[in-house]
Amino acid sequence: TPRIFSGIQPSGGMTLGNYLGALKRFAELQDRGQETVYCVVDLHAITVWQDPERLTHQTREIAAAFLASGIDPKRSILFNQSQVSAHAELAWIFNCVARIGWMYRMTQFKDKAGKNAENSSLGLLAYPSLMAADILAYRATHVPVGEDQKQHLELTRDIAIKFNHDYGVNFFPVTEPLIEGAATRVMSLRDGTKKMSKSDPSDQSRINLTDDADAIAQKIRKAKTDPEPLPDTLDGLKDRPEARNLVNIYAGLAGVAPEAVVAEFAGAQFGTFKPRLAELAVEKLAPITAEMNRLMQDPGEIDRILGDGADRADAIARPVLEDVYRITGMVRSR
Ligand code: TYM
Repeated sequence: TPRIFSGIQPSGGMTLGNYLGALKRFAELQDRGQETVYCVVDLHAITVWQDPERLTHQTREIAAAFLASGIDPKRSILFNQSQVSAHAELAWIFNCVARIGWMYRMTQFKDKAGKNAENSSLGLLAYPSLMAADILAYRATHVPVGEDQKQHLELTRDIAIKFNHDYGVNFFPVTEPLIEGAATRVMSLRDGTKKMSKSDPSDQSRINLTDDADAIAQKIRKAKTDPEPLPDTLDGLKDRPEARNLVNIYAGLAGVAPEAVVAEFAGAQFGTFKPRLAELAVEKLAPITAEMNRLMQDPGEIDRILGDGADRADAIARPVLEDVYRITGMVRSR
């Protein structure tokens, strides 16, 4: 039976990219009646330095973003990674299955480690092994993510295949990525060739889920574009990454195909399109921001939801891990 798993790092605030590429789709999958397990991956976040108090705050804020985007903690399992020890335990086993060379090839590692790879944490290198453990501890079959996680999911498949092969079992499923919709790669508002990211030094490059209506409108007004009007087909956006990005964002927010957006705005100048986009963004995001702020008033309640989710997650992951220990020949006598 299909089981959906996905995670978000509490390493900074949430952006419009996280919302359109992940959160919005997480809620849609839940509403389609799928079994959905969603995780705030705090252990992943500390692969780069996190101030402890900020990490606590951001973990709750990401949880609030899940809830405000429509995740119902009764229908989905919502928890933070460190409360379910199976993740870290299975990651160790996978560290012994995966090859070092696989890790060095990850573009995210190369980007984050930069020129100083020798001085980055060992956890940053092993990051994808923990990610594979997140997914496979639930034997999840489908993983909704944005485009930037594709390579990590391929590595998850490689780990599952190698584990099954090494131990002569057919235990872990080969997981399918779900990278779908108009906004699987939302780009920076300042540079249409760069991903919108919570770690970009320029706040103007992104829309944060905590931005108010004025900030959203101002950032869209100032977003980089070119002087041409919008074309009537997507073909006309081929070498116009900034224009293409704004069309994709509109499509993602409106829940329509990008083709429908260019059809509607064919020939319009950005002076016309941008205010409409800003209006749509405020209409869709303001209620989420307001709900996040309301939820953040009561951190105890968020922690209670995460704890309850962790209990239910543990009930699935623990037996899987026990099977893994048995398969690998560990003595289990207590
Ligand atoms: P993270 O925390 O960077 O991002 C969370 C989700 O948001 C998507 N995303 C985007 N989608 C479209 N456009 C963008 N500009 C954009 N930026 C981010 C990401 O693709 C992701 O789906 N390694 C993961 C977290 C993780 C995970 C997992 C995911 C840990 N374990 C298991 C799935 C399954 C990450 O760093 O995502």
